[in-house]
Amino acid sequence: MDYLIQEQLKPQNLINISQDQIDDHWNLYKGYVNQTNALNKELAEMRENGQGGTLAYADRRRSYGFEYNGMILHEFYFGNLYKNDKDLAQGSLLKAIVESWGSFEAWKSDFEAAGKMRGIGWAILYADSTTKQLSNHFIAEHHLGTIASGNPILVLDVWEHAYMVDHKASGRADYIAAFMQNINWDVAETRYDATLSEKTFRRF
Ligand SMILES: [Fe+2]
Repeated sequence: MDYLIQEQLKPQNLINISQDQIDDHWNLYKGYVNQTNALNKELAEMRENGQGGTLAYADRRRSYGFEYNGMILHEFYFGNLYKNDKDLAQGSLLKAIVESWGSFEAWKSDFEAAGKMRGIGWAILYADSTTKQLSNHFIAEHHLGTIASGNPILVLDVWEHAYMVDHKASGRADYIAAFMQNINWDVAETRYDATLSEKTFRRF
């Protein structure tokens, strides 16, 4: 079964992130969905043709993890972007953040620092699905450094393509500041509550 473009996740009317930027980024997301579907078919055909143990198959399988996670992380990212002037409300997520970092501002500073790390990738606030512990991480590309038991609570894309319509390559800090103005905290809270209650963790 093919993966579908999750049109309902496409952000509109963000603050300090242009629609041209979102449209361009959205087209790249579509590419990850299409490439994941193409690799699903290609890998199945190779197995059917007895090529499952070949170097060529292993090479395509490596690409599969990259493309697949690229699709998934973009769905989390767009899903937590929303024109929203609401701060994180008093609730389970804020309580857990304060327990781990001491204050919301300390968490924010640490998360932004992860986003400003050199290299292409992602800053992600994860919740461990077993212990519920929160931690901030930098993921290189789409798949290097992901937390195997981690539920992505807040996902920030820091590939240059996420901001180069609006900024130069040196404009990552301005983009991150804009991102922080457009977090849908209701979505992040829902993800964390799903982790706490051990309900099925969904990205859409
Ligand atoms: Fe991206």
